Amino acid sequence: MINPLRGMKDLTFDESQRFVHIVTTAIDIAKKYGYGYIETPILEETALFKRSVGDSSDIVSKEMYQFEDKGGNDVCMRPEGTAGVVRAFVHAKLDRQPMKQKFYYYGPMFRYERPQKGRLREFHQFGCESFGEASVYEDFTIITMISQIFEVLGIGFDLQINSLGCPACMPPYKQNLVSFLTEIKKELCEDCNRRIDTNPIRVLDCKNQTCQSLLVNSPKLINNLCDDCDTDFNKLTALLDNAGIQYEVDTNLVRGLDYYNKTAFEFVSNDIGSQSAIAGGGRYDKLVEFLDGKPTPAVGFAIGIERIMELVQMPELSREGIYMGAMVEEAVKALFPLAAAKRKETKVTLEYNSKGFKSHMKGADKVSARYCVLIGEDELKNATVWVKDLESKEEKTVLLENF
Ligand code: HAM
Repeated sequence: MINPLRGMKDLTFDESQRFVHIVTTAIDIAKKYGYGYIETPILEETALFKRSVGDSSDIVSKEMYQFEDKGGNDVCMRPEGTAGVVRAFVHAKLDRQPMKQKFYYYGPMFRYERPQKGRLREFHQFGCESFGEASVYEDFTIITMISQIFEVLGIGFDLQINSLGCPACMPPYKQNLVSFLTEIKKELCEDCNRRIDTNPIRVLDCKNQTCQSLLVNSPKLINNLCDDCDTDFNKLTALLDNAGIQYEVDTNLVRGLDYYNKTAFEFVSNDIGSQSAIAGGGRYDKLVEFLDGKPTPAVGFAIGIERIMELVQMPELSREGIYMGAMVEEAVKALFPLAAAKRKETKVTLEYNSKGFKSHMKGADKVSARYCVLIGEDELKNATVWVKDLESKEEKTVLLENF
């Protein structure tokens, strides 16, 4: 037997139903916020992710499914969706159009991480990207939308927010931080030591306890924002307060991807173990420019579908559609045109084996059909069908032409 690869999973009956429910719920809500579908390739040039997610990020430096294809191109299975959507946006010259544009997507992402509960090598995201809106009102709207998706799916969450500043306030802060980190360098872990030079901001979200305790007194960007970023962050918190959306300001929230500026956020759940982030996102106003487009502010998020799979409260299944069966072999053929006609309106389960009444009733129950329709010898002779409403228990014989 050939097994799926480590960290990769089949989604069979129960999980695939949950998957479809999550995606259709999210699509339904995203459409109401003005998002349209975008599909981008799973395979992209490696350079795309190096330039956008960042060379020094864990995703690019350690976790990429990267290989040379048969044509000698350096390619990569996408580790996330934003980079591809931005590339597509620039490629289609949408950056030159005056209107704001919003896209949603869902599909598989690939990261070569050490698999554990909630952490897969192939996982699925539902994401949204909004282009052309610089106002922090859009950040608020996106957070509202994610909250609504989780609410409809019956999922509780904690929201963490931070501001990552902008090119005016981030560089002086970074210098400040590097001076602080250099002082405590010897006590920090190996990863943090490497990051002081490559990506000092990432030191802030080191999971090592000793590092975290040393970072308590580190300078905080939130206290060193420029006026513009500070005003926006205060606007965002006021809007969230006003809407009754609870949040915690986490000054160490830096996100694992390098393209963010200003608002960054994560939705976490306490019910799924250590891999607790169920959605993440933020503003990335420089990325379109960075990928050779015209300067275009942007903000977006992605939900990790597998992470919320077991949290979703599935709607109760109600009886649906028709079960059709024959009691005698000659009647089976009569059911085909009936099934074809009824399938224009509803789900039909057609049993090919002729069998007894009880057996058919069990079959109708198994597929949770609302109606059981049977044809036996008498019905065949009289051109009728026997119909039972399995909810009201009402039963009747109906002329075929009236069915
Ligand atoms: P991210 O935080 O890297 O952001 O991923 C978003 C979500 O994907 C996470 O919160 C988590 O639920 C899920 N996820 C990440 N890695 C794994 C894994 N190995 N196994 C299972 N689930 C995982 C992004 O990817 C950004 N592109 C989000 C974004 C969109 N920002 C702006 N626009």
